[in-house]
Amino acid sequence: MKVIIVKDKEVGGKKAYDVFVETLKKGSRTFGLATGGTPETTYKQLVNSDLDFTDCTSVNLDEYVGLTPDNPQSYNYYMHKHLFDSKPFKNSYLPDGSAKDENEEIKRYNNILKDNPIDLQLLGIGKNGHIGFNEPGSPIDAKTRKVHLTESTIAANARYFKNKDEVPQYAYSMGIGSIMQAKEILVEAFGAEKAEAVAKMIEGKVSPDVPASILQRHANVTVIVDEQAAKLLK
Ligand code: F6R
Repeated sequence: MKVIIVKDKEVGGKKAYDVFVETLKKGSRTFGLATGGTPETTYKQLVNSDLDFTDCTSVNLDEYVGLTPDNPQSYNYYMHKHLFDSKPFKNSYLPDGSAKDENEEIKRYNNILKDNPIDLQLLGIGKNGHIGFNEPGSPIDAKTRKVHLTESTIAANARYFKNKDEVPQYAYSMGIGSIMQAKEILVEAFGAEKAEAVAKMIEGKVSPDVPASILQRHANVTVIVDEQAAKLLK
């Protein structure tokens, strides 16, 4: 893993922007995207740049089960607000949280991933080491599936909802197997609360107990962390 330590998340966003520029130059056109607080400075950099994604495809990691795409708490809404409304892609895919038939939706999404192999996958990391919504103990070869969120993840994401009870308990998530198929992976982590997960991801034992540690087995991973998130690295 290539580890880049930066002062703060603003500089982190700029470094991530550089990674996007480089990979676009190399011909990357399909991007796996993440939501949450972490990639916001990256999306801000992309939005304020002259990069053009109109010949690119995006495939998002996850979506809450039960939320319609126009729900302000949905990841679909988030992506439009933070990126797509300013930087449209040729095609943008997210799981549909409001799909009537869950199995069909999972099949649809796995077919999308098969048809659109990801060149660069952007990831955040949960405090418990999750990537996407692959919580500790998730199978390392899984494709997209419906997952039950842990209490820790629900508590962390409650900040986007009126209260904890409103946070959906389930999500569709690309599996670790799907994530590992990406040609290149960019992980970002900012803030002291991520320090333990970051140390385990980079220096810990590879184990499904820390889903991000599986990334040690991928040949092309760049990690951008701020000083706080890096503070437990040796
Ligand atoms: C988001 C996702 C999650 C987040 C992680 C960190 O699409 O898949 O794995 O990246 O929960 O969230 P933040 O960035 O809000 O700390």
